[in-house]
Amino acid sequence: MLLTLPKWFDLHTHFRQGPAMASYVQAHLDMGCAGALAMPNTQPPVSRVSGTTQSDGWSIEGYSAELRAAGADAFEQLIVPLYLTRQATAAMIRDGAASGLLRACKYYPPHGTTNSEHGLPMDDLIGGEVFHAMEEHGITLCIHGEQHALSGPDYIDARQNAETRFYRERMPRLLDAHPKLRIVCEHITTHDAAEFVAATPEHVGATITPQHLLHTLGHLIQGLKYHLYCLPVVKFQDDRAALRSAVTRAGQTKFFAGTDSAPHTTKATACGCAAGCFTGGCAPQLYAMAFEEAGADPGTAGGKELFERFLCLNGPSFHGFPASSQHFQMEKAPSQTAILETPAGPVTPLPLGMGFDPTWRMVR
Ligand code: NCD
Ligand code: ZN
Repeated sequence: MLLTLPKWFDLHTHFRQGPAMASYVQAHLDMGCAGALAMPNTQPPVSRVSGTTQSDGWSIEGYSAELRAAGADAFEQLIVPLYLTRQATAAMIRDGAASGLLRACKYYPPHGTTNSEHGLPMDDLIGGEVFHAMEEHGITLCIHGEQHALSGPDYIDARQNAETRFYRERMPRLLDAHPKLRIVCEHITTHDAAEFVAATPEHVGATITPQHLLHTLGHLIQGLKYHLYCLPVVKFQDDRAALRSAVTRAGQTKFFAGTDSAPHTTKATACGCAAGCFTGGCAPQLYAMAFEEAGADPGTAGGKELFERFLCLNGPSFHGFPASSQHFQMEKAPSQTAILETPAGPVTPLPLGMGFDPTWRMVR
């Protein structure tokens, strides 16, 4: 049975910088992706809106041009958010909104994940001029929602973790101070975050990755499957169940695809492991597997409707652009994933790294 869907949008992904960019963009085009929100944690970061010099960081204008030259001109939509660093000002937000270049900003917890050393504590931003300007000009805030600077024992234990703390302590304050701010809670991983988002107004949404819908901490630890190591880290069974029920709830409009596909050419090293799972080329297949496991098989009429909503429709509607009028096809049949060879080195896709084959396949 062929599943025909509108081309989908990946509203949280990483295309990096330099010669490998074209390989990463192509992997997205190959999986029926019609557009992307490309994260600004490049080296150097995307910390300005306009300008073409790169000496003090990329600009949205400059980085978008690089991406288009690397193949992203084939996308229907390309959103590059501004990385919120100490350089960000209200004037930058106002002028960026007026020019049309600025559509979103990205909050990184300082030192919380890959290339996040330029991030600011959330408490420094709440109530400040940058968030007020974003609220006024309708600029979306994409949030990596983890409390920063927690020690190992506090980062995660059986009762709480950096994400649950952030959603219990920081997010209510943020929404109180900025009730009109458009917010995407990115790559949410916990029951707490899913409940929080479900209870907020329509202008607060969330992305969920394939790995957080499919896997738990047990999968990571059993065999130390480091290709599954990403931040926020995969959580527990009740968290996964909450994410699954959020994405498969009838008529839901708040949860949408954002793979957080994050290629690393050097993943595990002698003294640690880079955070990020690469799902370029296989994300719709992984999402389909997760929907099937959640009891909403995209191969059935009811499951297809829920899957299409999450993958293809809710994201465009939240971000205010049309769904794609082009289509792609998948079928329920085993497929294999392969190492992506790039000019920067090989990248292992998540299923290959974990030793499983997707049970869905792209039809080209
Ligand atoms: C991302 C990366 O590698 O850029 N890593 C990750 O574990 N998700 C950064 C991020 O989105 O946290
Ligand atoms: Zn990310």
